[in-house]
Amino acid sequence: MTLTLQDCRALDAQDPLHALRDQFTLPEGVIYLDGNSLGALPKTAAARVAQAVTSEWGQGLIRSWNSAGWFDLPQRLGNKIAPLIGAQPGEVVATDSTSINLYKVLSAALNIAAVDSPERQLLVSERSNFPTDLYIAEGLCQARGLRLLLVEPEDIAAALTHEVAVLMLTHVNYRTGAMHDMKAVTAAAHAAGILTVWDLAHSAGAVPVDLTGAGADFSVGCGYKYLNGGPGAPAFVWAHPQHADRFWQPLSGWWGHAAPFAFTPDYQPAPGIARFLCGTQPILSLTALDCGLDTVLAAEPLGGMAALRTKSLALTDLFITLVEERCAGHGLALATPRTHARRGSQVCLSRSKGAHAIVQALIARGVIGDFRAGDGAAGGHPDILRFGFTPLYIGFEDTWNAVEHLKQVLETGEWTQARFSQKGAVT
Ligand SMILES: Cc1ncc(COP(=O)(O)O)c(C=O)c1O
Repeated sequence: MTLTLQDCRALDAQDPLHALRDQFTLPEGVIYLDGNSLGALPKTAAARVAQAVTSEWGQGLIRSWNSAGWFDLPQRLGNKIAPLIGAQPGEVVATDSTSINLYKVLSAALNIAAVDSPERQLLVSERSNFPTDLYIAEGLCQARGLRLLLVEPEDIAAALTHEVAVLMLTHVNYRTGAMHDMKAVTAAAHAAGILTVWDLAHSAGAVPVDLTGAGADFSVGCGYKYLNGGPGAPAFVWAHPQHADRFWQPLSGWWGHAAPFAFTPDYQPAPGIARFLCGTQPILSLTALDCGLDTVLAAEPLGGMAALRTKSLALTDLFITLVEERCAGHGLALATPRTHARRGSQVCLSRSKGAHAIVQALIARGVIGDFRAGDGAAGGHPDILRFGFTPLYIGFEDTWNAVEHLKQVLETGEWTQARFSQKGAVT
């Protein structure tokens, strides 16, 4: 039976995580369902970044590298990220972008494979992986004379042959929200002698992740989505300790040197994950990311990622149920798995036409989701309306209201207005 708006208000009132929303500045009247693309602004961030500018930079000047702890920010933030992804302290650094970190770890994994099993010439990934992952892999394959093999998710197991050096996957798919079983896939890859690289862009801070428990080899992830680090926030990188010291990463800059301020002409990589740093770090961006990480860690006393996950599933279940009951007959289809174990923290709906305009009409009403274009091929990927549920700041009443807006946009045909057909550079 459908929950009413009153039921949803009661669920918010009982929700032990509800107060975590007070950590964020969200515009009045907005229901923000795009934290999977850009997380909301932590209330602490503006003052903290202002302090880093006026006091640490303005007054401390160059001294702040030591006195304000700028120099080891990548490691300190890495240590805050570690428990969210099943890594140990000292195994993660916050640095660079996801794309750049992927280049580093993919190179490291290919280096290991080239030594341990040089006959393996394939890099396998999923055809619907996020494009930057595929482009980085394509570039590396070109440079090394390897072949990139792209498969559908259901064909991954069959593709894990003795010709494959590395399997590179995104844990939660950006278009569909479908989640891989990291432990089972990693075990299958290892059984065939294949190293695994996991992109956690839609997982870190969104779903519980256990890289160590899964026996994964390398991982990267994003700082500006569920970690609330701000636009273009630094990403993170993890390498299993057994691999971290085996090779130089390809961007062997001075920040990854064992003693950067010794200024030696030759490169001596730092031990462990610190070698995955490259050059001088964006301190103001790292400072904002620090505030974002604290918003996620604030859930720790309330049950941490497990509690956030329980709420996220309740929200996405509610959204799916309400859409199917209240928006039936309007051509929407569910593109996200119903099975909890296969679902990330977003719900994607497909529609053969009008998806972009419907999202625009919702945004005009203050319900912010986004649109991801399909490939236009018959039987290929359809256009997607994408709704991210960040349980830190989204509640049950928000979910009910979002579906009510969707219902009205569809029933009135509001989305067919010409003003909703214009596409911006960013969708
Ligand atoms: C799976 C995945 N990887 C990487 C990225 C982005 O990487 P970058 O921050 O380097 O632009 C995204 C962005 O949405 C993503 O969804």
